[in-house]
Amino acid sequence: MWGNFKRFPEQESYRIEDKVWVALEVVVENSAYTFAKLLASIYKAKKLQMEKLRYERPIIKKLNTGFINKFGTQTKNEVVSNLEGVGVKELIKQYGSPLFVVSEKQIRRNYQNATRVFRTRYPKIQFAWSYKTNYLNAICKIFHQEGSWAEVVSGFEYEKAIGNGVPGNRIIFNGPDKTDEQLITAARNNSLIHIDHFDELHALIKLSEDYDLKPRVAIRVNMDTGIYPKWDRFGFNYENGQAWNAITRIIKSDNLNLVGLHCHIGTFMLETTAYAIAASKLCELAWDIREKHGITIQYLDLGGGFPSTNTLKGSYLPGTDTLPTIDQFADAITEVILRFGFSKEELPLLILETGRALIDDAGFLLGTVLANKRLSDGRSAMVLDIGVNTLFTAFWYDHKVTPAQEGGQYTEETVLYGPLCMNIDIIRENISLPLMKKGDHLVVHKVGAYNMTQWMQFITLRPNIVLLDQESHPHLIRQAETLKYLEQVEKIPQHLLKNP
Ligand SMILES: Cc1ncc(COP(=O)(O)O)c(C=O)c1O
Repeated sequence: MWGNFKRFPEQESYRIEDKVWVALEVVVENSAYTFAKLLASIYKAKKLQMEKLRYERPIIKKLNTGFINKFGTQTKNEVVSNLEGVGVKELIKQYGSPLFVVSEKQIRRNYQNATRVFRTRYPKIQFAWSYKTNYLNAICKIFHQEGSWAEVVSGFEYEKAIGNGVPGNRIIFNGPDKTDEQLITAARNNSLIHIDHFDELHALIKLSEDYDLKPRVAIRVNMDTGIYPKWDRFGFNYENGQAWNAITRIIKSDNLNLVGLHCHIGTFMLETTAYAIAASKLCELAWDIREKHGITIQYLDLGGGFPSTNTLKGSYLPGTDTLPTIDQFADAITEVILRFGFSKEELPLLILETGRALIDDAGFLLGTVLANKRLSDGRSAMVLDIGVNTLFTAFWYDHKVTPAQEGGQYTEETVLYGPLCMNIDIIRENISLPLMKKGDHLVVHKVGAYNMTQWMQFITLRPNIVLLDQESHPHLIRQAETLKYLEQVEKIPQHLLKNP
């Protein structure tokens, strides 16, 4: 066979028919060749005609396909070349690289699933979108269209919620930093003010007297839920009686209207039992308030904290295989409240401020390979145009990263660096990837939560963000930053205006 090929020099202009003919000749000459081999020859001939084969540098590697490797998962070589039918290459061509892409379909799916899961277990449910998780207006509006209230932790987030058309009485105002003006506005708008500390409580009592306000309030309660270190820097402590003191002060005030109890026990929580403990402690407080003061608590707000399916750094197995589902969290919380003994009329509304679990898997970050390197110890390394300034969650997660085009069949353990001239700029310390060349694209998965709010302009500017609507049409929802945008808030003192 190879003799036949040798008769014809390998050149680009060599016609496909000739290649096929050669392959057929080979079969006739050598009856031991199977039909499959014939197909392989045709395929090879076609490939030769269509494109020059890429050079793959040789590597020595133990093959382990089909077996469990030391991380417990199969070595898979998954290519993601499109998102909901829209080509990665085309998106990058149109909007640049790197590029955040958010799926509206996935957000709605997540929200509808979460509400279904809780509603099927408990009759009174309300979600409040945690603005800090992702406060792009287009994203918030999707959640509000689905029926979500807003949960905000700062004055500007509050204004954003109002701007997004959320009625004041559907905004939950959390956080330790609320100015007097913000408290007055929130009280006038009938928002739910969650008090964080005694200074805030005193300020609100005084403001309500001075301005004749009747604010609807709750306290944030921190507690021992069996998770250590304890999250006790926000709110009033349950175990040492602080929470009860705050409750009593509110009830004894003339103007404050105690309507709820709130906690947010942590984030990316792995233990459903922690929520059962939290729910039971809030129920106890609500019960005692009714017993001692005759006041019915209207809602219990269990905060956020359910994990997304990302893989935490240092985890032995991937998040998808190990984390509790939202159903399990719902079981833990609702069983406690339902069994606590509240009458049907007094059953509190259950509010959830779920953030990352509702949006992480709806976000993707597309990027491009800038360079391949070999490190001094022989490890393979790739430099990407995605830095930790853009992908903040690279500090917490081993994000799934997939090539956006077919590559070679062999994979190699590789370090993924970002483009920043900073040693900390590492996207993945060690990931098994096929060889990719400069200009190839890749997709980082599950980046919808906390990146588009915690990202920073540092060395590189923040990129475009595109929303794929329910018909997969792309919409630019935040423009890439420019130097002009960046410098518009800078001022140069007069004496420095003259150039050297
Ligand atoms: C008060 C409050 N509610 C809700 C959330 C959302 O948390 P998660 O994204 O973990 O669900 C946070 C985030 O830290 C928070 O501080």
